[in-house]
Amino acid sequence: MTTKHGGIRLAKRLDEVGFSDIVQIRNKVMGMRAGGAQVHALHGGEPFFETPQRIKYAAIAALVENQTHYPPSSGLLPLRQALVEKLARKNGIAVSTDEVITTVGGSQGLYAAFQSVLDPGDDALVFSPHWTPIGDLVTGAQARPLLVPTATARRNGIRKTLEQFSTRKTRVIYYNTPQNPSGVVFTRAEAEEVAAFARERDLIVIADEAYEDLVYDGEHISIASLPGMLERTITSYTFSKTYAMTGWRAGYAVAREPFMTALRKIVLYSTNGLATPVQYAMMEALKTPDAEIAARREEYRKRRDLLVGALNEVGLECEVPAGAFYAFPNVEKIHKKSRTAAQILLEKAHIATVPGAVFGAQGEGHLRFGYAIPVKEIEDCIEALRKFFA
Ligand SMILES: Cc1ncc(COP(=O)(O)O)c(C=O)c1O
Repeated sequence: MTTKHGGIRLAKRLDEVGFSDIVQIRNKVMGMRAGGAQVHALHGGEPFFETPQRIKYAAIAALVENQTHYPPSSGLLPLRQALVEKLARKNGIAVSTDEVITTVGGSQGLYAAFQSVLDPGDDALVFSPHWTPIGDLVTGAQARPLLVPTATARRNGIRKTLEQFSTRKTRVIYYNTPQNPSGVVFTRAEAEEVAAFARERDLIVIADEAYEDLVYDGEHISIASLPGMLERTITSYTFSKTYAMTGWRAGYAVAREPFMTALRKIVLYSTNGLATPVQYAMMEALKTPDAEIAARREEYRKRRDLLVGALNEVGLECEVPAGAFYAFPNVEKIHKKSRTAAQILLEKAHIATVPGAVFGAQGEGHLRFGYAIPVKEIEDCIEALRKFFA
């Protein structure tokens, strides 16, 4: 990437930072649709339902009642109190309101976390395939991502594999469960292994629990709830997936000192907090009964089973993902290179997916199919797949 335009040049730390490939796919899909083509859109990662009405009304009421002033940079106190209660109840993480900070989506929480703890020249262990921005967040902090193949780690032993990939300069482990794009949900035993490794090597864990409410098989374990982990973990959460609030940019992070001071500085000087009405909507969202979240999870499970069944049926070998809302089949049958496979599927079957290579070399040979879409759209996609392979 060039950073020079005449005498003007950009900060060198951006040299290695990429820009989202998924945006390019989205543009191509929009172009095809504008040309009148029907496209099966499985490249996205947004819930199939709209933000529930009562959450929207909470934001409207806040506006009408003039809750339009500067909020505290770290979040309104009643919101942080509600988050503390949720963390204790659902995640087994016992913290005070000073140990929670609201962030502009999970994205800002993760950005702030990496910026808080990485120095130039440091290394970060990243289970891979991984959510693409993580590599860029690490390189943006002038550190190096060390990609740890999740499948190998699960087969050969998490601890042994982490040891293999670790360097003297390793400071951080990025730990995402359920995982995007693979749908892997780490077990309690695996979380304990990661935790033991972090404690032994005095590493910091950046935990990403964006999909905590989308676990179909097994259980969600917050690594910060394990013994000796809260003091070395920054956990990032988002309202995007659970409550269909992607466009609200609502998230939060949980950590102890010294991390909290760093997170507060980064939030203060980047966004100075979240829009006040959004925080009222978040408070309302947190009142959602567990049964409502569970009912939506069942909706996702239906979609997962439908899509994964069809993928295997047409010969695109796909493990059943235990969590999140993505299927990640092997597509070497279409083409060995995932970028080419995605292009073929888009042009010939009008099915939009994301090439696995975008999620790190460990994702090569796979495509990500997002199934957080209406059932009818999944059925249409399945029909297109069957025709393609007929
Ligand atoms: C693994 C993972 N972490 C974090 C996020 C952040 O989401 P947001 O910034 O919408 O809260 C996403 C969104 O796709 C994700 O997939």
